[in-house]
Amino acid sequence: MIFKDELSKRVEEANLIIDSYIPEAGSHDREIIDAMRYSVDAGGKRLRPVLMKSFYTLFGGKGDCVKPFMAAMEMLHTYSLVHDDLPALDNDDYRRGRYTTHKQYGEPLAILAGDGLLHQAYETAIKAFDLTEDTGTVVKALKIFGDKTGIHGMLGGQTADVINTGRMIDDDLMYYIYENKTGALIEGSMMIGAALAGAGDDECNLVKQIGSCIGMAFQIQDDILDVTGDEKELGKPIGSDAEENKNTYVKLVGLEKSKELAKEYSEKAKKSLEMF
Ligand code: IPE
Ligand code: IPE
Ligand code: MG
Ligand code: MG
Ligand code: MG
Repeated sequence: MIFKDELSKRVEEANLIIDSYIPEAGSHDREIIDAMRYSVDAGGKRLRPVLMKSFYTLFGGKGDCVKPFMAAMEMLHTYSLVHDDLPALDNDDYRRGRYTTHKQYGEPLAILAGDGLLHQAYETAIKAFDLTEDTGTVVKALKIFGDKTGIHGMLGGQTADVINTGRMIDDDLMYYIYENKTGALIEGSMMIGAALAGAGDDECNLVKQIGSCIGMAFQIQDDILDVTGDEKELGKPIGSDAEENKNTYVKLVGLEKSKELAKEYSEKAKKSLEMF
């Protein structure tokens, strides 16, 4: 298998699935749906739905019930980005190679489009009930979805990130922020894939631990790229973290140590994956 080709195929599949679950605009709902589509259609790596599907397949899943969850997770992730970029949070003008949603549509519509994506995510996920006889797995997946996206997951991490911006924080809080603002959606995606395929609690727990390492590596690498990356390739500004005085691993431990940490977390994830 050539990794790059296989990845493009899986991203393309995820794109078609995501697109099929975004509603078409009518008349009075045109503005909000256009703004919701704007950020989703801008693309992105689709890491979370691709990981979800890969874990679904790894645990023997064969049906379609993973599809609404793949779309739901990408909608939820996209809402988190739309709100993350707002002037009151990270105040960024570019995302996924385009103006951020608030730069394009104004702040009120960006806030509402983010809300729209969050609601649409749940409306979409529950469609999985119609696609499998084994509804218990859908209930389990929905619980993971709520848990990993809410105040004890992504939203909790984002909150701790935002309220501590500009303040000195310790390692423990730094880890909490990363584990939640970024790790939670990655862990959740992998766990939902496994749960929908019928994996048990012990297996889901192992998947969670691997996801946590991937999440840490991913966010530390994101911080590194905010310093060393290329804006065109990233599709978002570099230097944004320093400008906004964000707490990052690069700020906390320096660039070289951050690179080592990202590598360590990646290696740990790879090693744990071998057991599957
Ligand atoms: C951006 O996530 C937010 C972080 C957790 C660093 P991605 O880097 O996955 O963004 P897209 O979806 O590819 O745009
Ligand atoms: C964002 O972390 C995590 C979420 C949006 C949940 P960052 O603020 O570092 O992400 P970017 O760099 O804006 O993509
Ligand atoms: Mg942020
Ligand atoms: Mg940001
Ligand atoms: Mg960042």
